[in-house]
Amino acid sequence: MPDDAVIAVKPEIASKAGINAERHRAMTEAAERDPEGFWRGEMRRIAWMKEPTRIKNTSFTGDVSIKWFEDGVLNASVSCLDRHVEAGNGDRVAIIWEGDDPNSDAKVTYREMHRRVCQLANAMRGMGVKKGDRVCIYLPMIVEAAVAMLACARVGAVHSIVFGGFSPDSLASRIQDSECSLLLTADEGRRGGRSVPLKKNADEALKTCPSVKHVIVARNTGGQVAMQDGRDVWWEEACGSQPETCEPERMNAEDPLFILYTSGSTGKPKGVLHTTAGYLVWASYTHELVFDYRPGEVYWCTADVGWVTGHTYIVYGPLANGATSLMFEGVPNYPGIDRFWQVVDKHKVNIFYTAPTAIRSLMREGEAPVKKHSRKSLRVLGSVGEPINPEAWMWYYRVVGDERCPIVDTWWQTETGGILISPLPGAVPQKPGSATLPLPGVKPALVDNDGKVLEGAAEGNLVITDSWPGQMRTVYGDHERFVQTYFSSFKGTYFTGDGARRDADGYYWITGRVDDVINVSGHRMGTAEVESALVAHPKVAEAAVVGMPHDLKGQGIYCYVTLVAGEEPSDALRKELVAWVRKEIGPIASPDAIQWAPGLPKTRSGKIMRRILRKIAANETDALGDTSTLADPAVVEDLVENRVAR
Ligand code: PRX
Repeated sequence: MPDDAVIAVKPEIASKAGINAERHRAMTEAAERDPEGFWRGEMRRIAWMKEPTRIKNTSFTGDVSIKWFEDGVLNASVSCLDRHVEAGNGDRVAIIWEGDDPNSDAKVTYREMHRRVCQLANAMRGMGVKKGDRVCIYLPMIVEAAVAMLACARVGAVHSIVFGGFSPDSLASRIQDSECSLLLTADEGRRGGRSVPLKKNADEALKTCPSVKHVIVARNTGGQVAMQDGRDVWWEEACGSQPETCEPERMNAEDPLFILYTSGSTGKPKGVLHTTAGYLVWASYTHELVFDYRPGEVYWCTADVGWVTGHTYIVYGPLANGATSLMFEGVPNYPGIDRFWQVVDKHKVNIFYTAPTAIRSLMREGEAPVKKHSRKSLRVLGSVGEPINPEAWMWYYRVVGDERCPIVDTWWQTETGGILISPLPGAVPQKPGSATLPLPGVKPALVDNDGKVLEGAAEGNLVITDSWPGQMRTVYGDHERFVQTYFSSFKGTYFTGDGARRDADGYYWITGRVDDVINVSGHRMGTAEVESALVAHPKVAEAAVVGMPHDLKGQGIYCYVTLVAGEEPSDALRKELVAWVRKEIGPIASPDAIQWAPGLPKTRSGKIMRRILRKIAANETDALGDTSTLADPAVVEDLVENRVAR
C-alpha cells in the first residue's frame, strides 16, 4: 500500500457527523488561539458541584506541575450516573454484559448501575474506606468491575486495577506500592471456556500485603474458594442490605481518581496517576469526537478494564456520555472465530473498537466467518494499542466494515489518559497505517535526538509540547521519576517514548517505541521486567530481552539467556524458563524465543549493546551496524550463528 493511499470522508458520513472538516478546523484554531476559553467550554460536558474559575495551570519545566480546573469540585460517579438518571435516562442501558459463554448476557440500566454503585460505596465506607485511600481491583470482565471503579470514585478512594492475567507476584507488588487497604476480586474469571483462579491468586499475593484489611469477593463462576474469616466477605453480603443511595464525596478537580501501573524502560512498573476532572473531561471529549458517538448508540470496546483502554473507553468515557457500553468477558475466538461479529449482530453494535493483534488473527481465518453475519449496525471502527499495518487496516475496512465504516486509528498511552492523535470519522480523510492528525487542543512535535524541533515532513521522537486535561499528573509516590521519565529527554516537552514520521500532509505515522519497552499484542512490557524475572531463576546468570517482529502479536519477546557455570542448555530448561516467567509476571509475558547465549555483546565499559541484539532477533544480521566498540566481537558471531529461527 503506497503511503499516499487516502480514503476520503464520504459526503453522506460528513453530513451526518457531529464534526465535519470545517468544524474540526474551527475547533483546532479555537483551541490554539484561546486554550482557556476552549476548555472552559468543553469542561461543561461533565457535572460540577462547583464550577472552576481557573482553567489551566501547567508547567513542563523544573518540578513539572500539571493542574487543570484546579478550584472545581465534583464527583466522577455523578457525571457517569446520577445526572443521566436525573435527566430521565435512568432506564437507558448503561452496560450490556456479554459473557464468555454465548448463552449468558445481561443488561444493566443507568438506574440499576447507580443503585449497585451506591450500595458498594456504602459497604466500602462501612469498612472504613475514605477519601484518598487506595483500593485494588482484581476482577474479570464482569459488571462488578465497572461498579467497583465508580464506587471508589463515589467515596473518593483511588482505584488501582490490576489486570486479571497478572500473577500473584505482580498483583502483590502493585498492592504494596500504593498500600491498598481493600481488595475487590472474584472467585474466578472465565476466558475462552477456561477459568482463571483470581481468588486463589489474590490469597497468594496477600501473604505479602499487610496493608489489605478487607477483601470483597464477587461470586462469578461459583467455583470453590477459601474465605478468610474477618478479612473476606462475599459481595452480595457486603452490599445486599446497604442503602440504595449514597452521598457522593466532594472531590477537588485535582484529587486522584486512579492509579494504573504500566511498564517503563527501567525498573518496576510505575503507578501512573490520573486526577478527577481533567481525566473525565478528556474521556468524555475524546469518546464523543473520535467515535462520533451519538446518543442511544451501542458502543463496544473489546479491551479489558485492567488496561487504560478499558478505563477510558469502556467505563469513564462512554458512561460520562450516557452511552450504552458493551462489556465482553470472553475472547475473539471462543466458541468460534466469528464471535465478535455474532456479538455485533446480537446487540446491534454501532461503534466497534479493538486492537490490531485481534484483527490480524481474525484476518488469518479468512472472510467467511465475518461475512456470515450481517454487521449492518456497524458505523465506525476503531483500532488501538499498536501500529496497525496497512494490510490489516484494509482488511478491517473492506471485510469488517464493507467499505462503509470509517476507521479511526487512535494513538495514545496510559499516560495520556485518552486519545491524542486520531482521525475524526466525519472530518479527516484516512490513510491506512497512519493515526493521522492530533485532536483539537493537542500539540505534537517531532524532535531529533538532540532535541531540535523538526519541521515539515520528518521522522523523529514524538513529543507533546503543551499540556492537555487528560495528562497524567505524577508517578504515584515518586514525582522525581515522573520528571525524569517524561520531561528530561527533551526539555520543556512531554516525551512519549515513541518514534513517528510526519508526512507532507502533516499526518503522523507512529513507528513504535524508541525505548526498551516492547508492545506484545498491544500490551506494554518492559524488557527490564522480563530480564529480572529470568535472572531470578537459579540457573540463569544473565539475561537480555528485546522485541522481535511477530506476525500476530506485532512484537514477540526474544530472550538471550546466559546460564550459570555448570548448567547445560536443554529443551526442558527452555520450557522451564518460559513457565517461570509466566509464573513470575503472568501469561502475557511468555517468552516467544529463548536463545542460549554463552556471552552477551557488551561495550568495554560493560553496557549491553541492545541494538545488536534487536538486529539478531529480527534476523537482520547483515546490518548489525558499528561493532567496533564491542569488548569481544566473537560473542556476536556465536549469537548470529545460533539465533532462534522462527
Ligand atoms: O507505542 C505506542 C503504542 O502503545 C503505547 C502505549 O501503550 P499503553 O500505555 O499500554 O496504552 C495502550 C492503549 C492506548 C504507545 O506508546 N500505541 C498505542 N496506540 C497506538 C500505538 N502505536 C501505534 N498506533 C496506535 N494507534
